[in-house]
Amino acid sequence: MASPRMKTTRLLHGADYNYEQWLNYPEIHDADFAYMQKTKCNVMSVGIFSWVMLEPEEGRYEFGWMDRLLDRLHESGVYAILATPSGSKPAWLSHTHPEVCQVDRNGIREPHGARHNHCRTSPVYREKCVAINTRLAERYKDHPALLMWHVSNEYGATECYCDYCLDAFRQWLNARYGSLDALNHAWWTSFWSHRFTAWDQIRPGDQSIHGLQLDWRRFISHQTLDFFLAESQPLREITPEIPITTNFMRPNVGLNYWDFAPHVDIIAWDSYPRWHFPEEEWREGLITGFFHDVHRSYKNAPFLLMESTPSVTNWQGTSIPKKPGMHLLSSLQAVAHGSNSAQYFQWRQGRGGSEKFHGAVMNHLGTDDTQVFADVTSVGESLEKLEPIGSAVVEARVAIVYDQENEWAIRQAEMPGSDLLHYVDRCIAHYSAFWRMGIACDVIDSVGVIDLERYSLIVAPMLYMVRPGVADRLISYVEGGGTLVLTYLTGLVDESDLCFLGGFPGPLRDLAGVTVEDTDIVVGQHTQSVAMVDGAALDGSSDRYTVTDFADRLRVCDATVLGRFTEGFMDGLPAVTMKESGKGRTYYLASRNDDRFLLDFYRTLTSRAGLESVIDGPLPIGVNCQTRRDGERLYCFIMNFNKESAEVSIGSRQGVDLLTDEPAHGMVTVDGYGIRVIEVRKGEDTSASDPG
Ligand code: GLA
Ligand code: ZN
Repeated sequence: MASPRMKTTRLLHGADYNYEQWLNYPEIHDADFAYMQKTKCNVMSVGIFSWVMLEPEEGRYEFGWMDRLLDRLHESGVYAILATPSGSKPAWLSHTHPEVCQVDRNGIREPHGARHNHCRTSPVYREKCVAINTRLAERYKDHPALLMWHVSNEYGATECYCDYCLDAFRQWLNARYGSLDALNHAWWTSFWSHRFTAWDQIRPGDQSIHGLQLDWRRFISHQTLDFFLAESQPLREITPEIPITTNFMRPNVGLNYWDFAPHVDIIAWDSYPRWHFPEEEWREGLITGFFHDVHRSYKNAPFLLMESTPSVTNWQGTSIPKKPGMHLLSSLQAVAHGSNSAQYFQWRQGRGGSEKFHGAVMNHLGTDDTQVFADVTSVGESLEKLEPIGSAVVEARVAIVYDQENEWAIRQAEMPGSDLLHYVDRCIAHYSAFWRMGIACDVIDSVGVIDLERYSLIVAPMLYMVRPGVADRLISYVEGGGTLVLTYLTGLVDESDLCFLGGFPGPLRDLAGVTVEDTDIVVGQHTQSVAMVDGAALDGSSDRYTVTDFADRLRVCDATVLGRFTEGFMDGLPAVTMKESGKGRTYYLASRNDDRFLLDFYRTLTSRAGLESVIDGPLPIGVNCQTRRDGERLYCFIMNFNKESAEVSIGSRQGVDLLTDEPAHGMVTVDGYGIRVIEVRKGEDTSASDPG
């Protein structure tokens, strides 16, 4: 069945609105609704943590305040994204049914309190969630303000070791392995006498059994999805035409959101960069761009920026208020990468509780003449001007493989160099080369339904774990004409974390045409570098590139050597290779090479594939360009994450700046922390990349 669609195509602007915290302050409510108009907010996420306000006693519901809230939103022309309240449980529930509270690894049940800490398996918790969600859906199914469901809040990998969860885990294992013999082999339990002889001996938490830990992660993810599906069921039944979302976080929180993605209608996520923090400030823009791309790639479709801070956070230790320009830039950066909204946590700071100092549109001063209010209003005005962009999509011809299960496996690898692994950072380092060239990337998992043929180039850094089917997919991708880049630390283990025998990169050995004998660790005074061989120089200025951390000693079986190590006992050994298979190519980078290498290397590959940025000439460091296309209309977002202004050229294209309505062509100036959104029509876009 096709996913239900939202009943508006407008770009959304809004926030989490905790109306229920202010029931005794009618004047605050009045101010809120007036200020929503001023800031051009058209959506509010409501009810996220309202369970006790909606059901103050077991089975006694109070919907009056929610009725008034939704009516008032509707009268103000503001949609509601209505949450189910399961993110935080009422005290009466923990009191009458202690099984809803999680049990820790030592078997101790947590006392009531905090949030996001209920047992995901408890039948009582599921039953109570279904009961309240059913009532919410029945009561508001025809309410004109209801735009979308916001199921729970920020599902993460909280662990529960209660009997319900352990039983469910063992059943899940039984279904996966069928027998204890198969499980014992997969987990290599003859090591340290870890063999299990009965299912109920199995307990998660033993870090030395890598297969067990990996399966426990998978189970938590599975069980959380199962919980989400259970609590969504009444919404699907009673309001089949209302889309469902849930707010994801950065992916490395421990759930595999790739498994969730098919079950939500629209991806939404909460993004909290630490702007102005890194020494090279623009790097935060790079990292944030990467994670926006992850979220767009889950469904290869526009997503929502469900939460971001209008100013500061309260939980990052040190959080620097956004400098002038940065709020608009960071909000529209999400749109550039495919978001159809800019939403905040939170509309108004609460008077008490642990988030009373978290940034908000309305702070404790309570007036509309603040810098933050002006910044938020400027986002609202800009989103209105960018209205047509909601139906435009991002078209990426490059994919970075950043694989969630691979990340779990790498984290527990316990190998020489464990301290140096930094998987996600390395995915971002490869992505960085494309970001700096202004070439769009998807960021994908190694398994799944995505059709790889749409990409000209796939980069899979450190694909340590190669799961069943992945090698075959990559082989047919390359043979069909794709270009694949593999690196050191690829193809070491299978899906159970058992090492491949016969040489790494395991099932990708033939495709790469190389076998790894062992891997040197390059730290301290043990330096290494790479030089390209004659005839294979990269498109750049350097003839030597610095290597850090990892360098494979390779046996080249059937590949062309393009680069060699230049120092120490590895001097002259192969460092960069390429093998042709069918119509495509596989490159193998045997070492962790510096950013200059990555830039030169990918510049060479993209120009060979005919992939170009819409920007003429190199982008200044820290300036990025992303595009969204809707038929003949191409929208170019040129973003400057530096303090200083910058100039870039859009060449001979004739465009219009949608934020200022002024014509744009040739050299374009972008202020420090500034953004230009330029629409270029087809025909005026003669040199834009679209080699497909
Ligand atoms: C998360 C939560 C919100 C709030 C914000 C604060 O994203 O979903 O409820 O706690 O963090 O940044
Ligand atoms: Zn449990």
